[in-house]
Amino acid sequence: MRILSGIQPSGRLHIGNYFGAMQPAIRLQDEGDAYYFIADYHSLTSVQDGKALRGFVRDVAIDFMACGLDPNKCVLFRQSDVPEHCELSWILSTVTPMGLLERCHSYKDKIANGISPSHGLFAYPVLMAADILIYDSDVVPVGRDQKQHVEVTRDIAIKMNETFGAGLLKLPNPRISETTAVVPGLDGRKMSKSYDNTIPLFEEPGPLKKKIMGIQTDSTPVEAPKPVEGSNILALYKLVASQADYDTMVADHLNGGVGYGDFKKRLLQAMTEHFAPFRARRDEIVADKDYVEKVLAEGAEKARSVARKTLGRVRAAVGLGA
Ligand code: TYM
Repeated sequence: MRILSGIQPSGRLHIGNYFGAMQPAIRLQDEGDAYYFIADYHSLTSVQDGKALRGFVRDVAIDFMACGLDPNKCVLFRQSDVPEHCELSWILSTVTPMGLLERCHSYKDKIANGISPSHGLFAYPVLMAADILIYDSDVVPVGRDQKQHVEVTRDIAIKMNETFGAGLLKLPNPRISETTAVVPGLDGRKMSKSYDNTIPLFEEPGPLKKKIMGIQTDSTPVEAPKPVEGSNILALYKLVASQADYDTMVADHLNGGVGYGDFKKRLLQAMTEHFAPFRARRDEIVADKDYVEKVLAEGAEKARSVARKTLGRVRAAVGLGA
């Protein structure tokens, strides 16, 4: 089984990225042939500062490994070290109907949020299709917000196969973990940098406390029972607390007598404890100055040899080259 996923280096990773995609990807590294990459070509659609982008790429690599990604079990690489993605993207774009891209929610949301539409932003799902198809991927672990992009990938692969030959490209399947498909942010909407509602994965203790204690709640008095349905604190607590502690917090909501401030303190503590081992591992990785580049260089070589083969097959089928 070939597994593939990517993360954009467009700022600090947040716990939505972790629970929605990184943790499932890390679990899958023991189950097949996994390729994970840092999508720096994609991030050019939002980060237009070379120095900052290079720093974000390094940070994503460090954070991913700190959370448990093991470069001895999977291939970790930087997308731009495998420029074959871009060539395949161009070829795919020539069979991709405009309407397919016009229907993409992520593009429509960004435009609605005031981002000025570039061609790169519009064509983004075609590059993502190339990322996936170039590795003959079977499974793509992602959060729910990327489901449509994997469906678009399948549509493009079907179109390529109809046009240039059955079996040319393999059809991938999204793998979405039901319990963590959409991690809520501090305001209850999907956690996302564009909503400014994130809990960064490696947030410092002071700002983390401020963020968690600042979660919006209703004005139910301390002694009264509190709603469980739609509770943001409970949804976040479920991700980091033990089942027993979670059940206690649910009971305390239903029985009343405990205030939101208390629930937030428990959430803060569980969150801090949950990520403490990752923090320690992160310090170790950062201390070894050349380690990250070494991992990425080795990953690039492995990824590139697979990508070259697929691209060669596609070039031959479509009539490029001698
Ligand atoms: P990106 O960088 O926005 O997010 C990385 C991963 O995190 C997931 N995610 C979430 N999951 C649950 N709840 C949330 N609040 C949440 N926020 C983010 C995303 O679903 C994603 O899985 N287009 C992709 C990057 C990409 C890619 C690929 C992924 C490029 N090429 C090929 C898979 C395969 C993106 O922007 O993810």
